[in-house]
Amino acid sequence: MKNINIGIFGAGTVGKGVIKTLIDKSDLFFKRTGINIRIKSVCIKDINKKRDFPLENIILTNNPNDILEDDNIDIIVELIGGIQPCKDIIFEAIKRKKHVVTANKELISKFWIDIYSLAEENNVLVFIEGSVAGGIPIIQTLKRDLISNKIQELVGIINGTTNFILSEMTLKGKEFQETLKEAQRLGYAEADPKNDIEGHDAKYKLAILSSLISEKFILPEKIYTEGITNISKKDIEFASKFGYVIKLLAILKNHEDNKIELRVHPCMINKKHPLSSVNSSFNAIWLKGDLVGDFMLYGKGAGELPTSSSVVSDILNLCMEIKQGNYIHINIKENHENILEIENIYSKYYIRLLVEDKRGVIAIIGSIFDKADISINSLFQEDVYDNKAEIIIITHIVQEKNINNALLLMKNYKEILEVENIIRLEDF
Ligand code: HSE
Repeated sequence: MKNINIGIFGAGTVGKGVIKTLIDKSDLFFKRTGINIRIKSVCIKDINKKRDFPLENIILTNNPNDILEDDNIDIIVELIGGIQPCKDIIFEAIKRKKHVVTANKELISKFWIDIYSLAEENNVLVFIEGSVAGGIPIIQTLKRDLISNKIQELVGIINGTTNFILSEMTLKGKEFQETLKEAQRLGYAEADPKNDIEGHDAKYKLAILSSLISEKFILPEKIYTEGITNISKKDIEFASKFGYVIKLLAILKNHEDNKIELRVHPCMINKKHPLSSVNSSFNAIWLKGDLVGDFMLYGKGAGELPTSSSVVSDILNLCMEIKQGNYIHINIKENHENILEIENIYSKYYIRLLVEDKRGVIAIIGSIFDKADISINSLFQEDVYDNKAEIIIITHIVQEKNINNALLLMKNYKEILEVENIIRLEDF
């Protein structure tokens, strides 16, 4: 019988779930792996705070070195989040030949090469299932179950906060600010919601997925990112009128010429696409593989138990790899140099304009779109007030730089009062 000792950093929502799961299901995990998995130590900021997990047989400490310097600890589980002190803890653990399980998307996405190179040098493994889409096992699916595929496209709803807000706005016909406050009250959004609503959380997750898929390192800052703060009730209503819903999507497209297209932004998708019915705080990842074809995973993207499902599965898988003793390291050594600039992507576009409601305005718009080489698919006008009208245009597929040219041309016409919103529209 093999014993494996674990040291856990952090006992917040996920940490607590992981500790309770490892204790409550220890017999089952022994039956499934043949390994006796024991939490030896837990490192937390405040060792005097009352905890609602059993403390017998666990050493509580607020000194990371008590875990890092303990030669009897085989695996560290980092569940603190953010860059520091996690970076120092993980690097030190690896140097001391400890395997690592972490759900830290920001750290992994920014320091992928350093972490995995150091891990290979020290012949230890770093497992990160909890870092993307909470309970959805997308990392193992890509690494193992779809290993025979070339992934051509991946589209994810991988941020629960923004999906909750957009779903509520859609279902209840509410504006963004009001819905954000409601999401904060219900615990779906943080007190400081910037990381989620501005798209950064989804960007870190897409950076991890795209590095894994392309086998080249993609820094999060290379990913074009737009959040959902500009989406209004009106955009959602117009989208619906045309048969679409608005979702914050993380998009990856692998091009034939080895270029990769990566972007996080609100996007209109057809109501018939399976991603359109992913509502509330649920996450889903749809992808297209050259062998498997269309494929989708759906589940809870956050929360104590769903994320614990991923973290504890990582711990069990890692234990079984340790038992076998033959490690396969993730082999990503270079940066991806071939990321498509946003102005070079092709998409359809929804454009909402506020214009003077008078003769000739549609002709002006028609001539601008003609000059910018953009073909219009549908056009809709709604009266607003004071001789003003809203014009909604949906284009055919066009390169983004043509849209930018059209926007520049619009500045020359006083009849076009405002470009109220532009949202990309995709028929996946
Ligand atoms: N803040 C994330 C979300 C959950 O809203 O999906 C953790 O990744």
